[in-house]
Amino acid sequence: MNKKISIGALVSGGGTNLQAIIDSCESGAINGSVVFIGSDNPDAYGLERGKKHNIPTFVVDYRSIIKDYKNNPEKFHLPADFDQDEIMAKQNIFSDDDPQIIEFFLATRAAAEAKLIENMKRYSFDLLILAGFMRNLTPYFIDRINIEPEKPRIMNIHPALLPAFPGVDGYGDTFRYGCKVGGCTVHFIDYGEDSGPIIGQRAFRITGNDTLDSIKKKGLELEWELYSECIKLFAEDRLRAKSGRVFILDRAFSNGCCLKQQVV
Ligand code: GAR
Repeated sequence: MNKKISIGALVSGGGTNLQAIIDSCESGAINGSVVFIGSDNPDAYGLERGKKHNIPTFVVDYRSIIKDYKNNPEKFHLPADFDQDEIMAKQNIFSDDDPQIIEFFLATRAAAEAKLIENMKRYSFDLLILAGFMRNLTPYFIDRINIEPEKPRIMNIHPALLPAFPGVDGYGDTFRYGCKVGGCTVHFIDYGEDSGPIIGQRAFRITGNDTLDSIKKKGLELEWELYSECIKLFAEDRLRAKSGRVFILDRAFSNGCCLKQQVV
């Protein structure tokens, strides 16, 4: 029997995935509990969901941090341990963009991330889940959470069948492209945008009668199941990251002698 895991969550919006995960913890389907909920958005309804379950919450207002930088870049406080060259070299979100844009992005995000970390330090957690958290995380943050590089512990859910359609509007991009199949993906975070190793995926058919709203509905219902299943695998210590891929340890071989690539 594995120990109960502590889960931290970051949300930006409505938090229906968060709700599904809280419910799975409370029903015992996941051997874990959500120990904090953080948000970049003071108005995120996900925060209210947490309060209803007596889960501590906090907000780091990214918008005001970005505004401060724009208004007064000279007076902007970067975290004392922020190394611009190191983060620039590691990040994989931007490729050919203007270095000034990248610099602005990394500085403002790292300042916000330092505040996230400051809040998160109050809690001990095994896994951090992004449940509709609409901010890219930089290597500054990722390296401070993934203390053991071979043991990633930041999970994300994305509304598309990655590696297709990364970015902010997975279902919209899938629909507008005219795909006949859509889906969702749970993956570990790496230094790129929605590019980390895939843990599980679910797909649904798109027919001529579908609208963007109807595919969002189909997709979200699958997300709620898939995210809980992937977190359950983490809680059972059955996920192994190797060479940029995630393998799922078959329960029958849980003495560690066999890595199997199963489909979630
Ligand atoms: C979900 O569809 C999730 O996949 C997506 O935001 C929605 C959040 O819904 N996440 C991303 O696009 C991350 N890039 P929820 O707040 O109701 O869980």
